[in-house]
Amino acid sequence: MNPLWCDFNNAETKEFLTSLEWGHLSGELVMDVGCGEGNMSTKCILNLFPQIRKIIAIDIDPYCIQRSKIYHKHKKVEYRRADVTMMDELQRWKRQFSKIVCANCITFIEEQERAFMNMFHLLKPGGQAALFFTLKSESDDVYLEMNNKSKWTKYFQNLNSQMVQKLRKCDATYYQNVWEKIGFNVRFCKEQEADYVYGSDEEYKNGVRDSTFIESIPKELRREFVEESFSTFLNLHPRNEAGLLSFRYVMIKALLKK
Ligand SMILES: C[S@@+](CC[C@H](N)C(=O)[O-])C[C@H]1O[C@@H](n2cnc3c(N)ncnc32)[C@H](O)[C@@H]1O
Repeated sequence: MNPLWCDFNNAETKEFLTSLEWGHLSGELVMDVGCGEGNMSTKCILNLFPQIRKIIAIDIDPYCIQRSKIYHKHKKVEYRRADVTMMDELQRWKRQFSKIVCANCITFIEEQERAFMNMFHLLKPGGQAALFFTLKSESDDVYLEMNNKSKWTKYFQNLNSQMVQKLRKCDATYYQNVWEKIGFNVRFCKEQEADYVYGSDEEYKNGVRDSTFIESIPKELRREFVEESFSTFLNLHPRNEAGLLSFRYVMIKALLKK
């Protein structure tokens, strides 16, 4: 992942976790759902709560888990490949956790209700789950538009445009109802709007070069893909007064108690 994105995400995660007033989490067992390569939410949890007993960090992607174990090994972290929507893969941790962190992951899950239900089962009574994720982002507009072009559409197997459109229709009230139906006490659930401003055009292009879509595009077309994504972005979202590219996004931030 683009290191600038990584730093930006980690700053957001740190701010969110700090706002929860969780104390030191001294001796507690915490699960990080959708840990990626271990250098993001897992790293933030470790930095903020050094007295934690242990983090079980799960991700559906075996490649992420393999890289986490190599590059972000830590004595207090156990990385495991598991799908949060599949209870049979999580059974051993039922009612084990006092806290669950799920940062920037829900957006990628189709069966979200199953994921929330499983988190409920993973928590001890009184345990808390802190979730934050992007609900809608103008940055997706580019890929939705490119997906409509006959030249590029065949390379967009990774784009779940129905999912993007579905999330665009959801809001905090929708999620609050889902969580309450499961049995959570929703301490808070808020939508937060923000702008991401690129430091330069090159940062935007590097983001496209690092995106999951690029792998499906033949090497000889990648340069053109990057340039066309860039011009599509400019058409959809003109530069700000400072001449920089930016996009608006909406996050859901929530704290749930079992
Ligand atoms: C954008 S990354 C988030 C990484 C990190 N949590 C962070 O702080 O930004 C989303 C991760 O969620 C993982 N993921 C997606 N669906 C999942 C599922 N059903 N169960 C577990 N992990 C999942 C993906 O493999 C990916 O590594």
